[in-house]
Amino acid sequence: MSGARPGYLTLALPTDSTVTFPDTHIDGRVETHTAFDQPRLVVFSPKQHISPCTNHTISEPAYKMTWQPSAVGERPVVILGAGVLGRRIACSYLAGGYNVHTYDPSAETRQAAAQYVKEHLHDFKASPPGKTGEFQVYDDLEAAVKDAWLVIEAVPEKLQLKIDTFGELDKKCPADCIIGSNSSSYRSSLMLEKVSPERRKLICNVHYTMPPEVCTVELMTDGETYPEIFPYLSEVLGRCGMLPFTAKKESTG
Ligand SMILES: NC(=O)c1ccc[n+]([C@@H]2O[C@H](COP(=O)([O-])OP(=O)(O)OC[C@H]3O[C@@H](n4cnc5c(N)ncnc54)[C@H](O)[C@@H]3O)[C@@H](O)[C@H]2O)c1
Repeated sequence: MSGARPGYLTLALPTDSTVTFPDTHIDGRVETHTAFDQPRLVVFSPKQHISPCTNHTISEPAYKMTWQPSAVGERPVVILGAGVLGRRIACSYLAGGYNVHTYDPSAETRQAAAQYVKEHLHDFKASPPGKTGEFQVYDDLEAAVKDAWLVIEAVPEKLQLKIDTFGELDKKCPADCIIGSNSSSYRSSLMLEKVSPERRKLICNVHYTMPPEVCTVELMTDGETYPEIFPYLSEVLGRCGMLPFTAKKESTG
């Protein structure tokens, strides 16, 4: 690695690397230069002196990035389980302007959740406020998740149910879909038994408290989660009026 030249940082990277800098204040161009003995990424920032030796404008995780968010557009956030937490989580994404699908096997719960959304959506405040998303309830998991970009599992706190649910979601969700668990007691790393290696990098804990009364959300790796997912989800959650925190390592509760 070199880069003491004002405004430039050069990093040796594998040819297929992709890089973004969401957590930095870099306001410049990113270019691939072939004029070096090996492929290098050159960051040009005319307003700043960037040197990995003299300051930490770019931290190591920033240039090891391998994941980038897909375009969301009209794609839904899917909430699995429309019980106490599921219906509240649904409201938070609706308030943030995301379309939401909710799947629950109980017809009574689906109906109660739809009623809750109708009566309580106005209690959930997005930041900044804007247009709310569309809400739909489903009795068919496959139909609910077929175009999802994010799924939050809020099914009963039974580990085997979570393991089976994650296995099913892995098969039915789009390949780029992020899957979060709202579990209070189990790390998402315990739910991976039936999940493919690629999907494991898109799974994490997304643990809500009790919105809209308490809006904290804890994000936590499953041990393999792409690190770039955390700042991205934090931004999404912030927009939905939540207060996200990312745990530095795995823990529970
Ligand atoms: N209640 C809380 O205060 C709280 C707080 C934080 C996290 N959590 C976590 O959230 C999760 C859900 O808790 P809750 O309190 O909302 O439970 P709940 O019992 O109120 O709701 C669970 C819902 O999941 C549905 N369900 C059952 N099997 C399902 C399946 N295979 N797919 C989809 N839905 C299914 C049930 O019909 C029910 O409506 C648990 O993991 C819990 O630890 C709960």
